[in-house]
Amino acid sequence: MAKTKTSFFCRNCGSESPKWMGQCPSCREWNTLTEETIVQTKNERLDNQPNWREVGKTSSNGPVGKGPRPIALDQVVAGEVHRLIAPDQELNRVLGGGIVPGSIILFGGQPGIGKSTLLLQLALRLGQRVLYVSGEESEEQIKMRADRLGGASHNCFLLTETNTQKLLQHAAELQPKLLIIDSIQTLASPHVDSMAGTVSQVRECAAELQRFAKETGIPTFLIGHITKEGSIAGPKLLEHIVDAVLQFEGDRNYTYRILRTLKNRFGSTDELGIYQMDGSGLREVSNPSELLLSERDEDLSGSAVCATLEGMRPMLIEVQALVSTAVYGTPQRSATGFDLRRLSMLLAVLEKRAGLPLGNQDVFLNIAGGIRVDDPAIDLSIVAALLSSAMDVTISPEIAFAGEIGLSGEIRAVTRIEQRIQEADRLGFRSIYVSKYNVKGLDPDRYSIRIYTLATVRELYEALFA
Ligand code: TYD
Ligand code: MG
Repeated sequence: MAKTKTSFFCRNCGSESPKWMGQCPSCREWNTLTEETIVQTKNERLDNQPNWREVGKTSSNGPVGKGPRPIALDQVVAGEVHRLIAPDQELNRVLGGGIVPGSIILFGGQPGIGKSTLLLQLALRLGQRVLYVSGEESEEQIKMRADRLGGASHNCFLLTETNTQKLLQHAAELQPKLLIIDSIQTLASPHVDSMAGTVSQVRECAAELQRFAKETGIPTFLIGHITKEGSIAGPKLLEHIVDAVLQFEGDRNYTYRILRTLKNRFGSTDELGIYQMDGSGLREVSNPSELLLSERDEDLSGSAVCATLEGMRPMLIEVQALVSTAVYGTPQRSATGFDLRRLSMLLAVLEKRAGLPLGNQDVFLNIAGGIRVDDPAIDLSIVAALLSSAMDVTISPEIAFAGEIGLSGEIRAVTRIEQRIQEADRLGFRSIYVSKYNVKGLDPDRYSIRIYTLATVRELYEALFA
């Protein structure tokens, strides 16, 4: 007989606790524990298995069950994996070269960012049978979106169902090459007695889908919403169950979207995909630099170009700064796409090491295209843009920068400098400023771009304005 009991789950990390507490003992968030009903099934496996302590003594009982036995690694035969190649090069790249059979991929992102659009697009263009299960939208709504994305496909099947057992039955009958679930938060398993979207439901549904994917070899995408407050059980708690976690991000006011890998059991997590959202869906952007640099004006001060790396991809992006005398008492500092504390640090370095009085100036910083950059190599271009705006002198749009700035105003080496130089060269930049510690073993004759080296912020100042 199944027995009903309740337990407390953290909405942030999913950990379980037998009693209510103000603070979650595992992730230390406050007020995240909620009570949920769970159905406890009789634990048969433990009842039937021999105790491992007795295995040695009772060897006359024969082998330890029928389960798998330990095997030497060199005796494991690995068959060749035939990945399903998506008609989307950005997605293939992010997944490490296609979709692995039987894998389960969590596709997270804020509401409205374009998760359903991207996966419906995949379903329509794959050219093989796909089952798209939606618990959020009706068939008509999905059809309307499909029309916007450029037509229907007889291989793409829709199902509006939220009961996991029913949807898995349909999937078993249809035998699609790919299963897409939109979204995990709308599913409910009949085995768990709580509402869709709760921690225990999300966990159970994911486990059922995972079992199905492993048994049938049908790869599955799970869409999961991330909410800021974590008010519904977020994808966070699924991260360890699934094979890969992709995150779709971007600023909704801009058209760029970045697809990142947070976890991938079958490839690197350094890859990233870039898309542009337009009237007919998401378009792959194979050459982000050209897009991000296209709107530049020649003779405006306060702008500089950085050769950054996003994951493994070199990308040239524009940094804009505005330095102006503060009208009100306290000067304002604001940064879009860049860490404000890091900006304050760079301003302090400029003040102290380059003698630039910025204490009574408003400073605004913007990374073009609504992109967020964490690459430390952007420091040098930010300082160049700040100097340019403060002095009201333009920096030629044919110059790129790549270097990190230390607290004593030194310009430090950055990773993969060859790749950065190569990309700037390819895009027709005339010169690039890098750290002098970065050029050991670099052959300048390989590039047609001129490479200038700098050791300190002072030297940058002199190089640009002397
Ligand atoms: P959607 O895929 O519904 O987001 P999610 O599933 O992540 O919640 O995308 C919603 C947004 O995408 C919506 O604001 C409109 C925009 N959009 C376009 O700009 N062009 C298009 O062709 C489509 C289908 C959507
Ligand atoms: Mg959606």
